[in-house]
Amino acid sequence: MCGIVGYIGPQEKKKILLDGLQELEYRGYDSAGIAVIADGKLQHFKAVGKLKNLREKAAGFRSEGPGAAIGHTRWATHGKPTELNAHPHVGAFSYVVHNGIIENYRELKEELEAKGVRFLSQTDTETVVHLFEQKIKEGLEPFDAFKATIDRLEGAYAILLISEAAPETIFFAKNGSPLLIAFDAEEIYFASSDTAVIGHAKEAYYLEDGEYGYARPGEVRLFGPGGEKPISTQPLPADKAMAQKDGYRFFMEKEIYEQSTVISDTMLGRVLEDRVEFEELDPGLFEGIDAIKICACGTSYHAGLTGAYLLERMAKIPCQVEIASEFRYKEPLLTPDTLFITISQSGETADTLEALKMAKRAGLRSLSICNVDNSSIVRESDAAILTRAGIEKGVASTKAFATQVMVLWMMTLYLGQKRGTLEAETLQIELDAMRRTPKALLVEEKLHERIHRLSKRYLHGHGFFYIGRDLFYPLALEGALKLKEISYLHAEGYPAGEMKHGPIALADAELFTIALMPRTLLYDKIKSNVEELSARDATILAISPEEFELADDFIRIRHAEHPMLEFFEMMVVTQMLALEISIRLGNDVDMPRNLAKSVTVE
Ligand code: F6R
Repeated sequence: MCGIVGYIGPQEKKKILLDGLQELEYRGYDSAGIAVIADGKLQHFKAVGKLKNLREKAAGFRSEGPGAAIGHTRWATHGKPTELNAHPHVGAFSYVVHNGIIENYRELKEELEAKGVRFLSQTDTETVVHLFEQKIKEGLEPFDAFKATIDRLEGAYAILLISEAAPETIFFAKNGSPLLIAFDAEEIYFASSDTAVIGHAKEAYYLEDGEYGYARPGEVRLFGPGGEKPISTQPLPADKAMAQKDGYRFFMEKEIYEQSTVISDTMLGRVLEDRVEFEELDPGLFEGIDAIKICACGTSYHAGLTGAYLLERMAKIPCQVEIASEFRYKEPLLTPDTLFITISQSGETADTLEALKMAKRAGLRSLSICNVDNSSIVRESDAAILTRAGIEKGVASTKAFATQVMVLWMMTLYLGQKRGTLEAETLQIELDAMRRTPKALLVEEKLHERIHRLSKRYLHGHGFFYIGRDLFYPLALEGALKLKEISYLHAEGYPAGEMKHGPIALADAELFTIALMPRTLLYDKIKSNVEELSARDATILAISPEEFELADDFIRIRHAEHPMLEFFEMMVVTQMLALEISIRLGNDVDMPRNLAKSVTVE
């Protein structure tokens, strides 16, 4: 995710900014930039790639003395990772850095272009700086111009803006993306995460949504929807490593908790009132397409399997899912009416990339669903949809999976709209459910505590069977994969209806069955499958909104009216269960043995 820093004070500003951005490196980025206003004049530097490129570009620049400065690391979501798209974004006399997504930027951009403003980048952020300067040109005072600007913004943002119209001042605003102000005597710092300021400042104020204001030497004014507010600071944490994990014990745990917010980013600007839109897709991509082939590895493959159920059921398009390493050598039949979709968190997985090249050689059109812009798979594909999960540090994938599934669900509706396979009423039901997903992904403390307590009973035995039907079968596969990756216990995902065709022979009290029992999809069917296992004395852990009397253990999820909401809730439970078992076993959750985050070899 992008990172923001800001500074007002007499110290060498370039150094403070670059050091702050360095501390935010762990969040992932593909370009970076800084802007400094000193002696009333603005200067800026931007570079693609690592911070060392930016350091080199700004090597000869000094900025001691009074002034204000802002910096940013960017993880591309709107527009490629290029220097022009990197922040700070430039107006005629002002600069802005921004995290989040301005949903109504197209409308604002058109309005500004009609007034003769020329845009340099493809980003949503650039609208902010031009809108601000437009308001100044209309005669507003700088702070009024800033307030009038943010009043026009819809979406999520943390914004810092500096301008020659108000030297030594930083204007700030927060809505939906984190931002803090930190203090050390006369110096004022801004950051999107406290790791950037630990060691520099001792106290900080964490802004709330809807707050904005300005800071200049010796003065910070904070406003909210009800007018001016006092600033009550709190001590900054001392431990940087802990702060990087936002106080969680492991990155994987942080990433599980983050799912509720990143899924909103995935949907932002795409899930509209009455339809799904992907502005990154040329509508021609789907012309003449009668089938879909999805190709991926590991967790991404499981997302693909989930997507296939949705695509066939609602968009009424035949959809096959292939494991990339198998696909490469099976001499597959490829026809040009097939859209070839690759799914990859990293965008660098060798087998998936090679499969994509094969499909291209066979003349197929290609689309990638990926978390990393400019990755090899994105570059190689005709089109790409970014999942916007932000960097995933835990080797065991969690939020990447959630966002991949969400993109596939959105794509299903998008195609359903195009192909006319969705009744207006069904579309509305799906869109409503989609909008409720962030809530379904919230981790309640009570649930975490329950899983923590239960996990101690599942540290032995001779294996786990995760079972589910329909959409919940790929989730069973994914749940089992999570457990084996980080606990090193044997686990399998299985279609519940298949157990009686062989694996039921394994059933005894030492066989742990994790039964995914949604209420909205084939409940009676899965119930009878679980009853068969229970009759053979298997130990059953049921995950369901319905109490199931034959279960030895039970984790209740909230009642939901839509299978996808049950899917996402159960996904969180399976991730948490793997996490808690692994922690009890004393394993390194974030860096499990024998695994790498990006598999760039065959
Ligand atoms: C499991 C996991 C892996 C990856 C697989 C593909 O937690 O992360 O199974 O899903 O290696 O990687 P990507 O999605 O980067 O292509």
